[in-house]
Amino acid sequence: MSSAPPVVRVENMDRGVRLVTIDRPQKMNALNAAVRDALTDVAAEAADDADVRVLVITGAGEKAFIAGADIGEFADRTPLEQREAMATPTIFDRIWDFPLPTIAMINGFCLGGGCELALACDVRIGADTARIGQPEVNLGIIPGGGGTQRLTRLVGYGKAHQLILTGEIIDAVKAYEIGLLDEIVPANELKEKTLDVARAMASKSPVTLKLAKRALRAAYEMELSAGLEQERDLFALAFSTDDKVEGVKAFLEKRKPEWKGR
Ligand code: COA
Repeated sequence: MSSAPPVVRVENMDRGVRLVTIDRPQKMNALNAAVRDALTDVAAEAADDADVRVLVITGAGEKAFIAGADIGEFADRTPLEQREAMATPTIFDRIWDFPLPTIAMINGFCLGGGCELALACDVRIGADTARIGQPEVNLGIIPGGGGTQRLTRLVGYGKAHQLILTGEIIDAVKAYEIGLLDEIVPANELKEKTLDVARAMASKSPVTLKLAKRALRAAYEMELSAGLEQERDLFALAFSTDDKVEGVKAFLEKRKPEWKGR
């Protein structure tokens, strides 16, 4: 009996970087139920694996990161079925809530749910060939994976309206200019450059990465005074870790720290 080939591939790169590849290139890596389920498992396994420091998400092939939710699944769905398919936590929530850094490595079309998955990551690095947008309006629907909320917070009210209401697909340079991409690199260097960023993060203590990510998240979700309070609390919490002791000691002893992860 032959089983279906996996729709998500997982590779452990060096230094605790886990590379996750959506593997449906014949359908532009569109997010169907199988991909969403597989990504859910991958995120849970990675969160439980003490060796994982950073998650990098990309799409197979050269054409697409993810060209959106699988439109074929929409055709015959009732509103109730659709609402059920969007029960929380969605895959966007799961990536958003991943405790360690996440990077979207955007290698081509990054549309609709693909853009929303990239928005749920902490950092977005794009090939110069990347094409990004929220074209749901062209289908008579609206973004449903966080696009209206996270895109607005990331690029601002007017630019989010412009993208979502026109459905325009923009190139990498435009995406970088509005802050939707954090870095653009030549397509043939995308993997190595992205892994360099991931490795730079992964070389830090995982406990520090988690605290920093929680403090950064506060900037997104809280008003300033509450976020500053949260940062101070997390800063003080860092003083309870072995890795704070080790980091400071290593600096004073002019050597590299050896992180314990606690
Ligand atoms: N859902 C399901 N299938 C998709 C898809 C999606 N979101 N995006 C692409 N595909 C499929 C196409 O149907 C096609 O399948 P087929 O060969 O069985 O017909 C295959 O992927 C290749 O796509 P194709 O349209 O032939 O490639 P292209 O280079 O001409 O165009 C896009 C690429 C991305 C511009 C185009 O596929 C597109 O507009 N996709 C939909 C984007 C979208 O609206 N996303 C938001 C969804 S909510």
